[in-house]
Amino acid sequence: MAPWTRLAFVPLLAQAVSSTPVADPRHDDAVHLDQRDSAPEGYDSPPYYPTPYGGWASDWTSAYAKAQQVVSNMTLAEKVNLTTGTGFYMGPCVGQTGSAPRFGIPNLCLQDSPLGIRNSDHNTAFPPGITVGATFNKDLMYTRGVGIGEEARGKGVNIQLGPAVGPLGRKPRGGRIWEGFGADPSLQGIAGALTIRGMQSTGAIATIKHYIGNEQEMYRMSSVITKGYSSNIDDRTLHELYLWPFAEGVRAGVGALMTAYNDVNSSACSQNSKLLNGILKDELGFQGFVMTDWLGHYTGVGSALSGLDMCMPGDGAVPLLGDSYWGSEMSRSILNGSVPVDRLNDMVTRIVATWYQMGQDEDYPLPNFSTNTEDETGLLYPGALFSPSGVVNQYVNVQGTHNITARAVAREAITLLKNEGNILPLGKNDSLQVFGTDAGGNSDGLNSCSDMGCDKGVLTMGWGSGTARLPYLITPQEGISNVTQNAKFYITDSFPSDVTVSANDIAVVFINADSGENYITVEGNPGDRTEAGLYAWHNGDDLVKAAAEKFSQVVVVIHTVGPILMEEWIDLESVKAVLVAHLPGQEAGNSLADVLFGDYSPSGHMPYTIPRSESDYPDSVGIINQPFGQIQDTYTEGLYIDYRHFINANITPRYPFGHGLSYTTFNFSNPSISVVTALNTAYPPTAPSHGSTPVYNDSIPAASEVSWSSTNFTRIWRYLYPYLDNPESITASDDYPYPDGYSTTPQPAPRAGGGQGGNPALFDVAFSVQVDVKNTGSRSGKAVAQLYVELPASLGLDTPLMQLRQFEKTGTLGPGQSESLTLEITRKDVSVWDVEVQDWKAPVNGEGIKIWVGNSVADTPVLCVVGGGCSVE
Ligand SMILES: *[C@@H]1O[C@H](CO)[C@@H](O)[C@H](O)[C@H]1NC(C)=O
Ligand SMILES: *[C@@H]1O[C@H](CO)[C@@H](O)[C@H](O)[C@H]1NC(C)=O
Ligand SMILES: *[C@@H]1O[C@H](CO)[C@@H](O)[C@H](O)[C@H]1NC(C)=O
Ligand SMILES: *[C@@H]1O[C@H](CO)[C@@H](O)[C@H](O)[C@H]1NC(C)=O
Ligand SMILES: *[C@@H]1O[C@H](CO)[C@@H](O)[C@H](O)[C@H]1NC(C)=O
Ligand SMILES: *[C@@H]1O[C@H](CO)[C@@H](O)[C@H](O)[C@H]1NC(C)=O
Ligand SMILES: *[C@@H]1O[C@H](CO)[C@@H](O)[C@H](O)[C@H]1NC(C)=O
Ligand SMILES: *[C@@H]1O[C@H](CO)[C@@H](O)[C@H](O)[C@H]1NC(C)=O
Ligand SMILES: *[C@@H]1O[C@H](CO)[C@@H](O)[C@H](O)[C@H]1NC(C)=O
Ligand SMILES: *[C@@H]1O[C@H](CO)[C@@H](O)[C@H](O)[C@H]1NC(C)=O
Repeated sequence: MAPWTRLAFVPLLAQAVSSTPVADPRHDDAVHLDQRDSAPEGYDSPPYYPTPYGGWASDWTSAYAKAQQVVSNMTLAEKVNLTTGTGFYMGPCVGQTGSAPRFGIPNLCLQDSPLGIRNSDHNTAFPPGITVGATFNKDLMYTRGVGIGEEARGKGVNIQLGPAVGPLGRKPRGGRIWEGFGADPSLQGIAGALTIRGMQSTGAIATIKHYIGNEQEMYRMSSVITKGYSSNIDDRTLHELYLWPFAEGVRAGVGALMTAYNDVNSSACSQNSKLLNGILKDELGFQGFVMTDWLGHYTGVGSALSGLDMCMPGDGAVPLLGDSYWGSEMSRSILNGSVPVDRLNDMVTRIVATWYQMGQDEDYPLPNFSTNTEDETGLLYPGALFSPSGVVNQYVNVQGTHNITARAVAREAITLLKNEGNILPLGKNDSLQVFGTDAGGNSDGLNSCSDMGCDKGVLTMGWGSGTARLPYLITPQEGISNVTQNAKFYITDSFPSDVTVSANDIAVVFINADSGENYITVEGNPGDRTEAGLYAWHNGDDLVKAAAEKFSQVVVVIHTVGPILMEEWIDLESVKAVLVAHLPGQEAGNSLADVLFGDYSPSGHMPYTIPRSESDYPDSVGIINQPFGQIQDTYTEGLYIDYRHFINANITPRYPFGHGLSYTTFNFSNPSISVVTALNTAYPPTAPSHGSTPVYNDSIPAASEVSWSSTNFTRIWRYLYPYLDNPESITASDDYPYPDGYSTTPQPAPRAGGGQGGNPALFDVAFSVQVDVKNTGSRSGKAVAQLYVELPASLGLDTPLMQLRQFEKTGTLGPGQSESLTLEITRKDVSVWDVEVQDWKAPVNGEGIKIWVGNSVADTPVLCVVGGGCSVE
C-alpha cells in the first residue's frame, strides 16, 4: 500500500455523520430481534429459520458449481471479506466489498442509481422509472436497461443499485415514487424485469430494491429519538401488491436485492427472517444475494441468521469509526459458534455465484471513476484517518449512443391528457409565448445542486441517491428554439406584466412538482412532499391562471414526480391542452419538441391516477409525520391503492390510470381469446423438487485464518477488515441466545415455491388475447393496449374490480394501418393469494373471469369472457 499522504477529508466525514442514525436500540444480539414496539394487534413477523441455501435453480447450476470450487478453498478471512463492505468512503464506489485476490475476485464495486451511474462523468442521465413506466413500451424498458448496464460495466461497476420497484406508489406524496415505474404491481413487475434482463445482458449485476414497504421517506431510518417506521402489511396485500414486482425481478434472474430501512410488522427488513429466509429465499426461490441499504444494518448475528448476505457500506451504527456488525465481528461469530459456518458459506457462495452468473470473472473492468470527487486525482480512501491518494477518475466516456434511447424514452412517455380543438401539435409558424422557469436550465449551472437537491430549471429527475449527473441538458427552451424562431421566452415563475398578446398567440406554460430522498430537504420538503402537497411548485397554478386570463389558447407542460392537482385551472376555457412530460432526463427539450410540433404523436399513458382532490385518497396513504415513538404505518387500505381505490370508492378521478391521448385515433377490433394452459385446478400443480445445493465442510475453521499476525500488509486505519488480534483466544460455544423459533432444520418447501419467482406453473400462460388495433385518424402514432382482469366473486374474496396484468404497444402506425397485438396472461395473473392455504388460487377453468382491453382503466372497449368469447363496445 502507498504511504499515508493526507488527512481524511473532514467535511465529507461531517456530512456523513450528520445524515446518519445513531446506535439502534437493537444491539448485536438476536434476542433483541424479538423486542418489538407495539404494532397493531396481529401484525407481527413470525420467525423463519434457517436460511435456505442458494444454488438449486437450474439456470444457476454452472455458476454455483464454479462458486463451490472457489468457496471450498477460501479461508475465513476471504469469506468474510466478500460479505462486508470496506466502510463508508473507503474506495471509489458508494460501497465495495473486501476482495479475495487469490481467486481473482476484486473489491466488488456497488454504485447508484436506477437511472444511470451516479456521481460520475461522461455518463447518460436516463429518464427515471416513472417515465419509463409511462411509455408502456417493453422494447424501451429493455433497451434502457442495456444502456444502464453498459455504462455500469464501462465504469467498472460490478453491482448497479437499481431498478427500484419499491416504493410502489402507495403514497402520492411519497418522496421516491418517481424512481419506480408506476402505482401498479404488474407495471412495476414487467418494467422492472425487463430493466433487469437488459442490465444483466451486459454482465452488470442488477439490484432490485427496496425490499419492502418503504413507501414514505420521513422516519424510514432510526435516529436518536425514534425508530424507523413499521410498515404493517397483511399477507394478502403483501403478495398481491408489494411483493409482486419483486417476484417478477427474481423470476428475471436478478442477482442482488437491497433491503429497506424500515420495519415490516416491527421487524427491520434487513433482519426479518420471515421476509428474507421465508418469502424471498424459500417461496420466491431467490438465488442471488441480499444486501442492506446504506447503514441499514442493525445486528450482526441476528441479520446473518435472518438471511442477510452482504452489509453495506460495511459500517456499524455509526460510520467511519472502523467498526462493523460484520467484518471482524463476523469472524468472531464464526469462531465462537454463534453464526453457523454453513450460513457464511451460503452467503459467500451466493455472492461468488452471482459474479460468475454474469460472467464477471472474464475481463470485467475495475472501477475507473470515483464517486467521491470529480478531480482526476484524490484520496483512495476518503473515509480513512489517513489515506493514500492517486488517480481516481479516468473520465471514461460510456455514453455510446444511449442519448438516442434516453430521448426515445422521454418522448414516448409524454402523455397528452387534453387537446381541445386539436391545438396540438403546434405549427412551426405559430406565435408562441413560453412561461416558467421549468422551461429553462438551472440558473446556478448544470449539476450545481448535489444529487439534484433543488428545483431549479426544467425538472429532469427527483433528488437524492436515485440520480445521475447530467452530461448535458437540452432544456425545453433549447428544444423549442431549435424548431421555431417564433417563440418568445419568459423564464420566470411570476407572470410578467409586460406581455403583449395577439389574438392567435399561444401560451406554453411550464410547471413542475419535485420530491426526493429524505437526506435532502428542498423548499421545506424532506423527501416527501410534506410542504408542497400535490400542488405544482413555485406557484405554478397561478402562472397557468395568469396566462389563461391573457391568452385564449394555453398549453400546459408538466414535469412531475407523481400525482399533481390541476383543478385550479384544468377546466378554464383557454386551457386547451395539457402534456405530462414526467421526468425526462438529459433529453428534456428534444423529446418535448418532438411531440409538441408533431414529429411524433404522443403515446405515453399515466402510470398513476390524477385525482381531483387529495381527499380522494384513503387517509391511510398520507405521510405520517410523528417525531416521537415508532410510527406504525398500517396498510389498512389493503389492496385499494391508486385506481383500485378510486374504482372501489366510486370516485371519478380527473384522469384515470392509463389515460393518454394521441394526435390520431385508434380503434380496437376483432378480439379473440384462446386458452393456452387450462386451469384444471384452483391451485397450481405441485412444483418439481429443488435441485441440489453446494455441500461444504462446515466445521469451524482455524482461528489463524483471521489473525492479524498472519498478514503483513499496511493497514489503513478505519478500513474494515476481517482480521482479529489474538483470535486463538475465542472458543466456540452453543450458549448464544437464539431468537424464539430459531432452528437449523430446513423448513418444508413452501407450496407456492419451486422456481425463481415461485412455482413455475404460476407463470404458465393461461390465456392469450388477440386484438387488432387500427389507426383511424390522419396522423401516424403508436397505440397501447392495456389488459385488465376482473376476477369473479366466486373466489369468495373482496378483490379490486379491475387489475392491470398486461400491456403491449404497437409500432408506428400510419393512417389506416393496423397491427395485431397478442397479450398473454399467466395463471398468477388471474389468481388471488389464499392466506389460509398459502398458495395462489385461480377460478377453475377460468370460470367467470372477464378480461378487458383498452386505452385506460376507464376506457376498455374490448371485453372477453373466459368461455364466452369477446366483443367490442
Ligand atoms: C404481518 O402481519 C400480518 C397480520 O398478521 C400477517 O398477515 C403478515 O403475514 C405479516 N407479515 C410478515 C412479513 O411478517
Ligand atoms: C480448490 O481446491 C481443489 C482441491 O484442493 C482443487 O482441485 C481446485 O482446483 C481448487 N479450486 C480453485 C478454484 O482454487
Ligand atoms: C480482504 O480484502 C482486502 C481489501 O478490501 C484485501 O486487502 C485483503 O487482502 C483481503 N484478504 C484476503 C485474505 O484476501
Ligand atoms: C459471538 O460473537 C458475536 C460477535 O461479536 C457476538 O455478537 C456473540 O454474542 C458472540 N457469541 C457468544 C456466545 O459469545
Ligand atoms: C476503465 O474502463 C476502461 C474502459 O471500460 C477499461 O479499459 C479500463 O481497464 C478501466 N480501468 C481499470 C482500472 O480497470
Ligand atoms: C447522440 O450521441 C452521438 C454520439 O455522441 C452523437 O453523434 C449524436 O448526434 C447524438 N444524437 C442525438 C440525437 O443527440
Ligand atoms: C410558414 O411561414 C412561411 C413564411 O411566411 C411560409 O412560407 C410557410 O408556408 C409557412 N408554413 C406553414 C406550415 O404554415
Ligand atoms: C434540433 O432539431 C433537429 C431537427 O429536428 C434534430 O435532429 C436535433 O436533434 C435537434 N436538437 C439539437 C440539440 O440539435
Ligand atoms: C371500430 O371498430 C368497431 C368494432 O370493431 C367497428 O364497428 C367500427 O366500424 C370501427 N370504426 C372505425 C372508424 O374503423
Ligand atoms: C508478505 O508480503 C510479501 C510481499 O508482498 C509476500 O511476498 C509474502 O508472501 C507476504 N507474507 C505473508 C506471510 O503473507
